[in-house]
Amino acid sequence: MTRPSRRILVVLVLLVVGLLLVIVPVALRPGDTSTVSRRDPHRATNLSRSQMAGLLDAVATVARSKSKAELVAEGQQLFRSASVAKDGESCQGCHTNGGANPDLGTVPHPQGPGDFTGRRDPPSLWGVSHTAPYFWVGNVPTLEGTVTATINAHFKTGTSQPTAKTAEQAAAIVAYLDTIEAPVTPFDTGTMSPAAVRGEALFRGKADCIACHAGPLFTDNRLHNTNVPQLPGGTDPGAPLPPGAFNTPTLRDARNTGPYMHNGVFTTLDQVVRFYNSQSSVAPLGLTDAEIGDLVAYLDAL
Ligand code: HEC
Ligand code: HEC
Repeated sequence: MTRPSRRILVVLVLLVVGLLLVIVPVALRPGDTSTVSRRDPHRATNLSRSQMAGLLDAVATVARSKSKAELVAEGQQLFRSASVAKDGESCQGCHTNGGANPDLGTVPHPQGPGDFTGRRDPPSLWGVSHTAPYFWVGNVPTLEGTVTATINAHFKTGTSQPTAKTAEQAAAIVAYLDTIEAPVTPFDTGTMSPAAVRGEALFRGKADCIACHAGPLFTDNRLHNTNVPQLPGGTDPGAPLPPGAFNTPTLRDARNTGPYMHNGVFTTLDQVVRFYNSQSSVAPLGLTDAEIGDLVAYLDAL
């Protein structure tokens, strides 16, 4: 081999080794097991305040001009359509029939420069038209605003289509979301087990979960900092007010909506109740193992 060609070979080998050093750690990053894409469909839009206000007016006009049944049918179709969404990721993919899909994993952050490190769990949408404010940090006050911003950020033509089109899609999806109700459970039918009935008494009494998880959807529609632990290396700041707070989620269908909390840090309801008992902002609750079991049975019945 001549000298120059040997030099080229050495350079090539160095290039390949260098590339592998970059690619392998990215591919093997620990904890990256979720099957949802790396993109947050709900990231902030670039719409100005006045553009958003105009769009919301248009959404209200569409909602008044069509029948509810027509809007719901269109909304359901858009919710399930992989062709309108970026990366083929329909709403349905992460919020399956309105529920949370435990097999899908969580959406990873950071999503851009300056964003926090951590994960956000897709919440279920049971009774979502009654659970304002929206998102884990409760930063959007209305469902119309939530959906309009999501279409803008996540639909393929979200930023290029006429605003009238966005308004029609948003009115339809909002109407569909308004029909999403939790599945019928032993809580609804009055067929809870004796353990679940004891758990209900604890929920309302000794453990006082009802202080925040109140009403038919088990949420006070407010934010609280309950000391949920960060994931390893996590820097999720939560809401600015109260500092580090997150939005109280519904507990309907809790048995099927794991993993739990904004970052999915707990995988079982037993872990959640043990967290409240000994680590949370309301700890210690002094619950015995039997009482923890009863509370879990109650959550399972919701
Ligand atoms: C890649 C998964 C994914 C897709 C696709 C997706 N979402 Fe979400 N959704 C999430 C996550 C994660 C959150 C919580 C985000 C946060 O608060 O940081 C969320 C939150 C929401 C909320 C707020 C619920 C609440 O109670 O606060 C609504 C409403 C919602 N999504 C509707 C939609 C609609 C409508 C679509 C389709 C246009 C959609 N989502 C597509 C993952 C997804
Ligand atoms: C001070 C208000 C407060 C009290 C009291 C409270 N919670 Fe919560 N709960 C919250 C908030 C806020 C979240 C969301 C926290 C987060 O994601 O970081 C939450 C989340 C949960 C979740 C996870 C739901 C999901 O879909 O991820 C469960 C389950 C739960 N709470 C059950 C209980 C039980 C059981 C009790 C009583 C032992 C209780 N909570 C007491 C405010 C409260």
